[in-house]
Amino acid sequence: MKESNIILGIETSCDDTSASICIDGKILSNVTQSQIIHKQFGGVVPELASRDHETYIIPVIQEAISSAEISVEQLDAIAVTRGPGLVGSLLVGICTAKSMAFGLDIPLIEVNHIQAHVVSNYINKSDIQFPFLCLTVSGGHTQIVYVSDYLDMEIVGSTIDDAAGEAFDKTGKMLGLDYPAGPIIDKKSKLGNPDKFTFAKPRVPDLNFSFSGLKTSVLYFLQKQEKENPDFIDENIDDLCASIQKTIIDILISKMKKGLEKYDVKGIAIAGGVSANSGLRKAFEELAKEKDLKLQIPDFQYCTDNAGMIAMAGYFKYLKGEFASLDMEPIVKNYSI
Ligand code: KG4
Ligand code: ZN
Repeated sequence: MKESNIILGIETSCDDTSASICIDGKILSNVTQSQIIHKQFGGVVPELASRDHETYIIPVIQEAISSAEISVEQLDAIAVTRGPGLVGSLLVGICTAKSMAFGLDIPLIEVNHIQAHVVSNYINKSDIQFPFLCLTVSGGHTQIVYVSDYLDMEIVGSTIDDAAGEAFDKTGKMLGLDYPAGPIIDKKSKLGNPDKFTFAKPRVPDLNFSFSGLKTSVLYFLQKQEKENPDFIDENIDDLCASIQKTIIDILISKMKKGLEKYDVKGIAIAGGVSANSGLRKAFEELAKEKDLKLQIPDFQYCTDNAGMIAMAGYFKYLKGEFASLDMEPIVKNYSI
């Protein structure tokens, strides 16, 4: 194995087509084409997502390669998301990665999307303190992960129904907000009173989460208020956003606190699309300060789905010589890290 290595990472698990170049553990380019077609449907339409991936994948890879100022022949390996995700979307990335690996005669590396979200914490960061507890919060997942080394990790808590991102998106939809509602709720929350309205919080044992009760609680509350005042949502939108956001953050933080009672760690981290949330980032800063722990938060561009984290995970796997076979198939559901 030569000393320096250049990895192309490809991510197509959901509705972002992304490619990235990682050279010796440094991300040199990270190009993401987010699909806007789903906005009009209020959620991701799987068939449309795979078609858009097909349209974007080659130009996105070409841009990642050219902006890293390398040539395709210099690549040492191709890392690609194997799952979890939408089968049609995953297939576009996997087929592209396999073709390139075969054509260039270089190794293929499979990456677990959820593990890659944790790995996003290492990009552009030094002095990572192990072990740490990472809260991975995205549109599809809500997990607490115990991380003992770069790729050694175990899921110690997860949602039993909706993910935190879904809680943002589904309650946002009830408020008439566009998909994805998470960033809009985040923005409007800054103008609202988080204590104006209170919503149900779940009672789920251990380090597991539930968000379906919050969804129902918001739905019944809005139905009741709108009966009395049809303009209720419009008149209270900022306070509603702030109160919903606070409830979601409280649920997440209380489980993290429980996790910290159980696991002796040196740091805490967040990953996944919801880790872009300004309220959650602030709450994590406070938690780290209170417990005297090192705080790790990915840079914004590596919070939501991106190939930088896939290329980075690919880099660590490349060093270990963990390569995939060319008949590797996608895995749609969660699988152990
Ligand atoms: O990680 P991600 O890009 O895709 C999945 O793997 O699911 O996460 C997308 C989720 C969406 O639910 C979106 O609403 C949420 O992340 N999100 C946010 C924010 N930015 C993205 N939620 C709350 N506040 C944000 N600023
Ligand atoms: Zn994700």
